[in-house]
Amino acid sequence: MLSCNNITKIFNKGTLNEKKALDDVTLQLNDGDFVTVIGGNGAGKSTLLNAIAGSFFVDGGTLQLDGEDITFMPEHKRARLIGRLFQDPLKGTAPDMTIEENMALAAGRGGKFSFGIGIGKAQRAYFRERLEKLGLGLENRMKNKMGLLSGGQRQAVTLLMATMSVPKLLLLDEHTAALDPATAEKVINLTKEIVEQEHITTLMITHNIHSALECGNRTIMMDDGKIILDINGDERKNMTVEALLQLFRLKSSKELDNDRMLLTK
Ligand SMILES: Nc1ncnc2c1ncn2[C@@H]1O[C@H](COP(=O)(O)OP(=O)(O)OP(=O)(O)O)[C@@H](O)[C@H]1O
Ligand SMILES: [Mg+2]
Repeated sequence: MLSCNNITKIFNKGTLNEKKALDDVTLQLNDGDFVTVIGGNGAGKSTLLNAIAGSFFVDGGTLQLDGEDITFMPEHKRARLIGRLFQDPLKGTAPDMTIEENMALAAGRGGKFSFGIGIGKAQRAYFRERLEKLGLGLENRMKNKMGLLSGGQRQAVTLLMATMSVPKLLLLDEHTAALDPATAEKVINLTKEIVEQEHITTLMITHNIHSALECGNRTIMMDDGKIILDINGDERKNMTVEALLQLFRLKSSKELDNDRMLLTK
């Protein structure tokens, strides 16, 4: 469903700061794959997701989504097919707009409701029902400005918005890294629920190596712009955190070095 074929991305080409952030990466995702992505700081994880989302065009290789070549499709067009969440809860929603206005924007984007004047009764009822499922009491705060919500509440709503009209692909870039552990766990559980329920093909970067093995059906590990490990099935089921770290050492000849990982149990 997603094919990255030998993609390469070089930042600051021809300068002293030249950096090959993606080095001939080939990755095939099957329909409904929920893949977790781990690796050290600067390994190229965010760059991989940005390349797929179209934040820039790749310097080499091709990208296909559901059989369509998207290598040179502009980012705003890909956004109709791809849902995204970032580490920063402030990204992805408009702080000065209310919760329901934000949700209406997301619904409009996916063509779920046609743009009319204001938010209709049916639309509001639908938003309320979706918010109720979060179990955060936000269904009673639909007219509150988004900026008033806590980081975790915002990420939960952003996740709802990103999946309101089910995207072909969901890209999560450490979307729980800025949250306290209890809230992060809630948002991870919500992520699992939505992804499984809607059967959304997902790539999730995480610094939490436990979540990496626990969520989804497949884990890839990146180092120095390359995918150095890709596990699923029984191999993954039987994998312990220790064994995974050991594999990293073996494949990269170094320790897995990620500042956020060190802060996570
Ligand atoms: N816009 C950019 N301009 C120049 N260099 C960049 C840019 N974006 C990323 N890089 C470089 O590319 C490399 C890969 O960065 P990337 O953000 O993909 O790492 P990451 O695996 O997401 O790391 P982290 O765990 O710290 O988020 C790094 O060396 C980074 O400095
Ligand atoms: Mg990153």
